[in-house]
Parts: sequence; C-alpha cells; structure tokens
Amino acid sequence: MKAIEIRNKYLDFFKKHGHAVIPSAPLIPENDPSVLFTTAGMQPLVPYLLGEKHPEGTRLTDYQKCVRTNDIEEVGDNRHLTYFEMLGNWSLGDYFKEESIAMSYEFLTKELGIPVEKLSVTCFAGDEDCPRDTLSAEIWGKVGIPKERIYFYGKDDNWWIAGEEGPCGPDTEMFYDTGKPACSSDCEPSCDCGKYVEIWNNVFMEYFKDKNGYSKLAKKNVDTGLGLERMTMLLQGKETPFDTELFSPIMQKLEQLQKVDYIESRRIIAEHLRSSMMIISDGGRPSNLDRGYVLRRLIRRMIRHLNKLEINLEELSTLIEINVDNLKEMYPDLEKNKDILKSVILEEKDKFVKTLTHGEREFEKEIKKLEGTNHKKIAGEIVFRLYDTYGFPPEVTKELAAEHGYEVDLKEFDELFKKHQEKSRMGAEQKFKGGLAEQTEETIAYHTATHLLNAALKQVIGKDAHQRGSNITVDRMRFDFNCDHKLTQEEKTQIENLVNQWIQEGIEVTKQEMKKEEAIQSGAECMFIEKYPDIVTVYSIGNVSKELCGGPHVKNTKELGTFKIKKEEASSSGIRRIKAILVK
Ligand code: ALA
Repeated sequence: MKAIEIRNKYLDFFKKHGHAVIPSAPLIPENDPSVLFTTAGMQPLVPYLLGEKHPEGTRLTDYQKCVRTNDIEEVGDNRHLTYFEMLGNWSLGDYFKEESIAMSYEFLTKELGIPVEKLSVTCFAGDEDCPRDTLSAEIWGKVGIPKERIYFYGKDDNWWIAGEEGPCGPDTEMFYDTGKPACSSDCEPSCDCGKYVEIWNNVFMEYFKDKNGYSKLAKKNVDTGLGLERMTMLLQGKETPFDTELFSPIMQKLEQLQKVDYIESRRIIAEHLRSSMMIISDGGRPSNLDRGYVLRRLIRRMIRHLNKLEINLEELSTLIEINVDNLKEMYPDLEKNKDILKSVILEEKDKFVKTLTHGEREFEKEIKKLEGTNHKKIAGEIVFRLYDTYGFPPEVTKELAAEHGYEVDLKEFDELFKKHQEKSRMGAEQKFKGGLAEQTEETIAYHTATHLLNAALKQVIGKDAHQRGSNITVDRMRFDFNCDHKLTQEEKTQIENLVNQWIQEGIEVTKQEMKKEEAIQSGAECMFIEKYPDIVTVYSIGNVSKELCGGPHVKNTKELGTFKIKKEEASSSGIRRIKAILVK
C-alpha cells in the first residue's frame, strides 16, 4: 500500500466514524512563537483541547505536516526523519478509551490488514499523579490483544505532553513486531533494538500540567498520532522509509549521479531536501535565527553530503523537480511553489559555496608555502584537512593542484580517510570522551553534565557503574554505562535529584595537568587507560567528580540549568543507556 492510500484510508475510516476532516495546519505555527515548527497533530488544536468549541464539532481527523529537529544528527541511520506526516483523530470531550481503542484496532487489523499476532500494546503503569490505566488494558484484551502482549510502563514511555506544560495524559501505544529476532530474553516494546516499532499513540488527554503540577481538564479528550512514513515502510515490508516510494525516485537519482557511494549521505540528502522543501513551501526562509537557522542547517548539511558524493551542485534543480513530481499528489503546494523552492535553495547553495570558497583560500595558502621549495606534491594530510573542514572533495584539490603544476598525495589521503571512517564508525557506536565534534555552549554544558551523571550513578547504582560511551548534541546527551538491571523510577529520581542538587550548589569546575599514573592513583575516573597520553588533563567538580578528560567544560555547575532524564533503556547486553536533557 502506498503512503497516499494509507492516508486516504485513514481519513475515510474516521469520516465513516463521524469525524470531520480538517486541513493540515502550516508547518510554521501561525500564532505560537514558543515552538519552531508544528511537531504534532494536536499542536494546532490546543485551544480546543483546553475547552474552546471547534467549529467542525467534537470528532476531528486530519493529516498533519510535522518537523522535529532534535534528532537532526541522527538522520542518515535507517529510521530518523526531520519531516514526517502524522495521521490523527481527536475526540474533544466526545468518545474516550473504549471507542478510541476499538477504532484503532479495527483500522489496523481490518483496514490495513495487519495480523493481530504482529501487534503489542502498552498502557500507563500509574503513579502519584494518575492511576494505572487498567481500563485501557481491559479494552485491549476485549478487542483481541492477548494479555501477554499488553505491557505497562511509567511516565517515560506512556505519558504524552508537548514540551513542559500544557494538556497531557496517559497514553496507550501500539507496536508492530517486525519479526526480527529478540535482542535478549527481556526484549519488550520499550526496547530500542528494532524488533518492535511504535506505530500509533492514543493519548487520553484529561490533564493539564503547569508549574504547580497536574490538574484535570474540563473535558476528557483523545489525541492520537500515527506516523505515515513508518507505517508505509512496515506495510511494504521495507527496512527503512528510504526504500518506500516516498523517497525511492530521489534515492535512485542520487545513486545515478554519485561518484562515490555512501548510503548515509544519500539518505541525508533525500531527507533534508524533502524537509527543506516542505518548510520553504510553508513560508520558511534560511537565516541565522531560530526556524531560519534550522532550515539553513538542513540545506547546508544536504550540500555537504552532495559534495561528499561528489555530485555537481548544479543538479540540485533536477533533484528539486524530481521531489516535486514525486510528492505533488500528496502535497499540491509543492507544485505551486516550485519556483520559490528552487530560488530559495539555490540561493542558499550559492551562499554556502562562498563559505566553501574559504577552503579554496586555504588551498592557496598551502600552495604558497610549497612555492620555492622542491616539493611538487601536496601532502595527503592537507588534502584531508580541506576535505574534512571545508567539504572540499579530493578530486577538486587534485584539479586545482594540477592547475598550479602540483600533484597530490591521494594515497596518504586515502589512508587518513580510512582511519577517519574507522574512527567515526567507532564514534557512532561509542563516542569517546574528549571527542566532541561541535563545541557550543550547549554541548559544553552537556559534557559537564555527563561527569555529574557519571558521579551520581556511582552513588545510586554502585561504585562499579562506569561510563561505557556517550554522545552529545546541542539538544541532548546520551550516556551508556554498565548496569545489570533496568533502572527503577526511584533510582532515576534519585539520580536526577543528585545531579540537580550539585548544579544548584554552584560547584566550581577545575582543571589540572598531571602524569597519567598519578591521576589514576588519585582515583580519577577514566574510560580507557591506554587511550590517554602520558600527561593527562583531569577535570574536578569539587569533591563530587574527578575524571580524566580533554574538556572543555563549564566553569561552574550553576551554568547547566535543570537536568532531566528523558529515557532509560537497554543499549546492549549489560549496558544501559540514559537520554537526558538540560532545561535552561
Ligand atoms: N500527540 C501525540 C504524539 O505526538 C499523539 O505522539
């Protein structure tokens, strides 16, 4: 089934069940400066979820264009998208759990024909704010999901809120079993290994959260969201959304045009091009601020990867045409805005090319250094630096060098390139400390937060809990550590409280250089002794933490904001993973 057929089936199904089909709101929220982009179908409906009367009634359905950019660095793997379409249905004080679950079940099994054996569901386990959702579990049982495939989880998994404050509630999520082997004997829908894929989320929105805590909304609402790209991929038995018709024409064209072959780059280009086109079509323009900056990052990242595949940037126009043709049935606006799409993207490309021209200047400098010497060969190291820092393809360096009567050492370049690839492969699996790619205020703060988390784990889990890897972006931190069990809610709260206590205490972060042996003897924490040079830097946070580390770090813990654990899950056997954010 094609994506557009799934979309139409969905809207027809809910229309049949008395829902009014409302249009997708623009990606750029009309009256909401607090969010960059529309990130969920419920967002444009917030006033109605809070009690205002909707002109179309109490049962609504739509498809909503969404952009979520907190995962931008992860696009290129096989499932992350910055742009996606969310199919949704809403009850504004109309039906509640019983009907909502029955309709979801009917749609999945009858309309989409998913065998019930492939479905698992999760319900809210209950806590001090809201009781256990036994009713949803009972309804799931009644419609046909066997008890052993009904799971209960806490707020991390089965509670939905957009951001920090607003309408919210427990949710029940539906998972599709891909049929892949279980990663371990306790592999469950909450596991990240890829066996189970979340397909639909029904939120029972009867609460409101603000600074003072939770209160009940006037009406009991239902808010649901089904990711179209994911569903399309699963129904077609494809491994990634890039293998579906939504992306295949552009992926094929890239394969034709590329001179070197990187599947990740093709995915990044295909994804970012579609996302940029959708944002521009809804009025977004590149700039150095907020939304504009996100768009700029998407376009530039795409261009870097076009360069990586050594695709002539003049082809951008054709790529845009291909996407418009492929997507216009789903998004007729793309066709209408074709000229604008081209002019905005091409203009941004020209600006970025100018930036890349700096790379050319660097090249000239290197040539100057060689002039007057006997060297007629440019070192591979320089070719590599131009490639790595300025996105300068080695072929271009070679051509430029030839114009100046020089050769380039491509053999050395290849060696360095392979080493670099190996490093990034390792880095993707386990990012070593000191290897921060992007050093911004945010990433530096997260870096210090990893040290505090590492220290807190030792107090809550035990002395033997050590860091096994970490990955930091401007939006979040990921931290792997050894531990033989899933953390309990109590442990997570204790960890959060400890880290936040240290942040509030405003502890100074100090740096010292010493011999490696001395550092280890003094009890400084380190991940891999052999990876460090003989003289090492040790960062201390008062008496709380002492670690071998290349830095950089904040000066004082009070710069961090509030530490919040977003997720705790299995990473691999005996290794747990925490995803956390700092809220300023
Ligand atoms: N608003 C819910 C979500 O985005 C349905 O998952």
